[in-house]
Amino acid sequence: MDEKELENFRQAGRIASKVREDSKSLIMVDASLLDIAETTEQMIAEEGAKPAFPVNISINEIAAHYTPGAGSIEMLGEKDLVKIDIGVEFEGAIGDTAYTIDLGGENGNLVKASEEALEEALKMMKPGVAVGSIGGVIEEAIKKHGYRPIANLTGHMIKSNDLHAGVEIPNVKTDDPFELMEGDVFAVEPFATTGGGYVADLNQVEIYSLFAPAKIRMQQSRKIVEYALTNFGMLPFAERWVMKEFQSKVMVSMGLKELLKNHFIRAYPVLRESDGGMVAQSEHTIYISADGVEVLTK
Ligand code: CO
Repeated sequence: MDEKELENFRQAGRIASKVREDSKSLIMVDASLLDIAETTEQMIAEEGAKPAFPVNISINEIAAHYTPGAGSIEMLGEKDLVKIDIGVEFEGAIGDTAYTIDLGGENGNLVKASEEALEEALKMMKPGVAVGSIGGVIEEAIKKHGYRPIANLTGHMIKSNDLHAGVEIPNVKTDDPFELMEGDVFAVEPFATTGGGYVADLNQVEIYSLFAPAKIRMQQSRKIVEYALTNFGMLPFAERWVMKEFQSKVMVSMGLKELLKNHFIRAYPVLRESDGGMVAQSEHTIYISADGVEVLTK
């Protein structure tokens, strides 16, 4: 990437980092999930950027892809283990960062396991390192604490306007020989759990992205696609964002269902740890430099 693009990635990372830290004051017992999500997304807008995806608020055994729906009255509970995953898009560049807050105070070690795994992974990453071996270091760091990494969730390469640009950083040891190269950008996100270490889809979906924007006959659905393309491009968006734009919630929810059935959009179902284990997550976006990493979301 050229210097200009790198500067944009640095700026996206700085904003993501600032919003991550500022958002921590919102995470408390009885706080409204919708308020946390909307306030955090507002913080991103105030920095002159856009959310690269809806703020994910995943609680306890929910690992990822949950964001409150329009009109949600859910609140954080006394013992909730809360994962906040924030994406910032600035001039196409993306910063992706996450943290876990343990409101009940009983999962401190689990949180520490995910944080240490992230630290250990970043320490070993440099050009020439195989992604499968990074998974090995993450796995070992988490198991040292007596927990399991989530094997079917991974970190991911990021490119401009592309949140998941193909290459994955596994959270367990694999024989994937893909080697890091100077100039690559990755989100590294270890998930530690008290369960068996696998997530499965729930039926619930709050997050979508355009898959194949094409000519659509149904007028209502076409309006949704046009709105999504203009405002979110190919990046993930929340059902509640679309509902804000259109008068009828029923129209939006039927439109999205229709678009999904016809493969115009894809769904990101809520992901739950299969054994109901508690889940902690830590995440940074990093740039592979000549001899190591530059943490963009430090
Ligand atoms: Co993330």
